[in-house]
Amino acid sequence: MRNATDWRTARVAHIDEPAADVRRVVFDVTGGVPPFDPGSHTNIRVTIGGQGAIRTYTCLPAGRDQIAIAVKLHPQSRGGSRFIWSLMPGQEVELTAPENRFELSWRAPEYLLLAGGIGITPIYGMAQALAARGQKVRMHYGAQSRAAMPFVEDLQALLGDRLTLHAADQGQFIDLDAVIAELPPSGEAYVCGPLGMLEAVKAAWARAGRPISRLRYEVFGDNGKFAELPFEVSVMNTGISVTVRPDQTLLGALQEAGVEMIYDCQRGECGLCAVGLVTREGEIDHRDVFFSEEEKREGHRMCSCVSRLVGGCAVIDIGYRP
Ligand code: FES
Repeated sequence: MRNATDWRTARVAHIDEPAADVRRVVFDVTGGVPPFDPGSHTNIRVTIGGQGAIRTYTCLPAGRDQIAIAVKLHPQSRGGSRFIWSLMPGQEVELTAPENRFELSWRAPEYLLLAGGIGITPIYGMAQALAARGQKVRMHYGAQSRAAMPFVEDLQALLGDRLTLHAADQGQFIDLDAVIAELPPSGEAYVCGPLGMLEAVKAAWARAGRPISRLRYEVFGDNGKFAELPFEVSVMNTGISVTVRPDQTLLGALQEAGVEMIYDCQRGECGLCAVGLVTREGEIDHRDVFFSEEEKREGHRMCSCVSRLVGGCAVIDIGYRP
C-alpha cells in the first residue's frame, strides 16, 4: 500500500522537446504547488494498456503553481513514458504534490554532481540551487550523444567550466576515479543515472575509501541487464499464479491478480515491495539499488517493483500466512 499522498488535478499547459527523445511537460496544478526542493518527485496516475498505474517523475524547476517533468521515450517502456508522450495541451491528469527522497544536505564544502542520460532531471535542479547559493560544485554529465542531453545551454550558463559533458558516441566517458579524487574528503556526490552507472560510481566511491553517507543517489528503476521477457510466478499459500508480461512489473501483475502488496517508491530504492524466492527457474535481473551485491548474488529476494526474471518461473513468498 502506498503512503497517503496529496493527489491534485493538473492540466497540461505546455510541451516541448529539450533534446532528442526527451519531452518536457509543464502542468498547471489546481490548488497550487507548495515550494519544493531540487530532487523532489511527483507521482502521476497513468493509463497503461487500459489499466491504471502510478509512475514517478522528478519535478523540474517550473513556474508558480506548476510542476514540470521531462520524460525520455524508452523503446522498451512498460507504458509510463508512452502515456506521458501521448499527453496533449489542455489534457487533465492526477498527480501528487512534490515529495523528496533525494535531498541536498547543504552541509558539504563541495559537491560533485554526476548525471547519466535522463538522470539529469534531479541533477539539473540541484545544479541550479547550488549555483544560486554560491556553493562549490562541479558536474559531469554523460549521455549517448550531445543531442540526447537536455538543458545543456542552461547548465553551461550556470556552471561554465565547472560542467563537463561526456558524449559516448565521441568516445567520451566519465573517469570516475579521477573526478572523485578531485573532491575534498568531506565533499558529497549526488548521482542519478542508469543502474550500471550507479554501480560503477558506488564501486569507485568504495575504492576511494569514501564514506557511503556522503554518496547520494537515485536510479531509473526500469533499466535492466536483460530485455523484458514474460515469466510465471506462483504466490505461496494463496493458490494465485500470474504471468508477468514484458510491459508490466511483477508488482503490477500481482496487484492485477488481487494480491495486496506493500510498496512505496516503485524505483527499487525502499525495499518495501521485496518478495522472497522460494524456488526459481530463470535468472534474476536485479534492477534495484536496495539489495547489496551479495544479496543479489544469493538470489533469495527481489524487489517486485523493478526486478524481474529473465523468463522462466518462480514460487514467491510475500509473507502471507493463512
Ligand atoms: S516499492 Fe520501493 S523498492 Fe519497490
